[in-house]
Amino acid sequence: MAKKPKNIIDNTDRSQLFTRFYNEDCVEGARKHLADGSVDLIITDPPYGIEGDQLHRHYHRDESFVIDGYVEIPVEQYGEFSLRWIREAARVLRSGGSMYLVTGWTHLRHVLNAVAETDLQLVNHIIWKYNFGVFTRQKYVTSHYHILYLVKPGSRAFFNTYARFAPSEKTAENRSLLYSDMEDVWIIDREYKTGKVRHKNELPTQLLVKMLQYSSSERDVVCDFFAGSFSTAKIAKALNRSSISFEIGKQAFARQTREVDAVEWGEMLWLLKTGKDDRPEQSNKPWADEEVARLIDLYNAYRGEGLKKMAAIERLQADLQRGYFSVLNALKKQGL
Ligand SMILES: C[S@@+](CC[C@H](N)C(=O)[O-])C[C@H]1O[C@@H](n2cnc3c(N)ncnc32)[C@H](O)[C@@H]1O
Repeated sequence: MAKKPKNIIDNTDRSQLFTRFYNEDCVEGARKHLADGSVDLIITDPPYGIEGDQLHRHYHRDESFVIDGYVEIPVEQYGEFSLRWIREAARVLRSGGSMYLVTGWTHLRHVLNAVAETDLQLVNHIIWKYNFGVFTRQKYVTSHYHILYLVKPGSRAFFNTYARFAPSEKTAENRSLLYSDMEDVWIIDREYKTGKVRHKNELPTQLLVKMLQYSSSERDVVCDFFAGSFSTAKIAKALNRSSISFEIGKQAFARQTREVDAVEWGEMLWLLKTGKDDRPEQSNKPWADEEVARLIDLYNAYRGEGLKKMAAIERLQADLQRGYFSVLNALKKQGL
């Protein structure tokens, strides 16, 4: 059997948490350092290839606090560049693993075309609505990014549905918190760090926490092909996930990797809002004939007592340990 080359990350040993940083081109770096299927989750935000850099600007931001060293991609190379790195990302992702690809709208077509050349499946097209769009008088203000949620086929995709909210958690208006958290429009503010040195286009902590909670577990390996401020690596470490980061820019690399080193393993875990699967016991089980008979009897009895349909369903949910829609649909089937 061929011996595994030294320093190739192959994701078989989960006993040691690690952070690895490579100050090199992500495609060459991934080829050198990452085995096929070695990564559980990719969160990445490629340069947008925008002349004049409009999308990156924040309204009222003093650009003197923004770290230099951001490497852009010439517009005419954007299609070819997207294909190269997305192919490599698809190779290193394990089957059933996910990728969140953050992109502006300007070159979205190139990104989607490149994705279509791989076996990655586009599961959701998320809109991230943020604050601080640059005010424009003659056209609408751009205040969103696109986040493609992609999954590598081959085994069941990992998705931690109840990581943040339990099905029973409701707002004061009785709306499901889980449902609204799982909608594909995310309203998350960018962090406006007045007077602090920051990287251009740093992703907000809450955005990263959300992707990490839904699509990874502690000790998983998370990779960022375009690390910038190393925000992915910082939050991954704070949540006890290993990480691998590539960043071609020289200036920010030393400062940012020191910042990752300063994060303590798992330091944010105690702050996390977590959920659990508290669905009624019978959820998802088929209805037995006796249960349907009981449903009809109880329903007629509650209505006979003068309860409105909604109130009767609420009682039936508790009686039968089923969710609202399960009871509603079963009643419908009985013509009730
Ligand atoms: C949009 S920024 C990433 C921002 C990052 N998500 C954050 O939260 O700070 C893109 C980064 O990719 C880097 N970059 C450009 N080309 C690259 C390449 N071929 N390999 C690795 N990094 C590259 C840029 O220097 C820039 O820092």
